[in-house]
Amino acid sequence: MLNIAIDGYMGSGKTSISKKLAEALHIKLLDTGAIFRGIACAWLDLGNPEISEENIHTFMQKIHVAIKFIDNHQHVFVNHKDYTSQLRTEQVSQLASKLSAFSETRTQYEQIARKFVKENDCIVEGRDIGSSLLPNATVKLFLDATPETRAKRRWLQLQEKGEQTTLEEVLKDLQERDYRDSHREIAPLKIMPDSYYIDSTNLTEEQAFSACLQIVLQHIKQEQ
Ligand code: DC
Repeated sequence: MLNIAIDGYMGSGKTSISKKLAEALHIKLLDTGAIFRGIACAWLDLGNPEISEENIHTFMQKIHVAIKFIDNHQHVFVNHKDYTSQLRTEQVSQLASKLSAFSETRTQYEQIARKFVKENDCIVEGRDIGSSLLPNATVKLFLDATPETRAKRRWLQLQEKGEQTTLEEVLKDLQERDYRDSHREIAPLKIMPDSYYIDSTNLTEEQAFSACLQIVLQHIKQEQ
């Protein structure tokens, strides 16, 4: 089975590079962050209760999370409601990061992801893929760029969407989320010794993609 692990911080280019790699290799892409984002959307629908072990336990008992590919695009359903169009707001980003630190949300994500990787040649992008979900992945990539560069990329995306926010606010949120995702107790984001580290600070998206593709193709060749 071909399983490619891609980890990295927000704004590292992980999502767009993963998409392009999946297209180039004609394999599926699993966006694991979207599972936490779907859970966060359902949490908001419930009235955004205080985040506590007890509230998360009650909530997780009541929900069923599922992913489905429709026209080759990953959708996330919670209790049969399709949240796909609501996943990408700043509020959902922060909440997904907070909820992802709890064992019950991670168990739910792992069940979905493990089933998927068993059944598909795929690229899996997230935070703990090389370290926890796929320790024996065919190849592991870790994408990075300076916080300032990543914040600028994110801010430009938000500007395009017409969202009112300053670069300073985006940088502050990003640093908070980086810290939380890499310092939590369970499956924190970390660079594995057997990961290829790609710093895209001074690269265009196309250059970063080319570098990743070359590494992946080399490994696929070695496996054959
Ligand atoms: O990749 P993303 O921005 O869509 O992820 C949203 C949040 O979900 C991220 O801040 C941390 C969490 N996450 C995680 O804990 N483990 C993963 N494999 C993927 C995402």
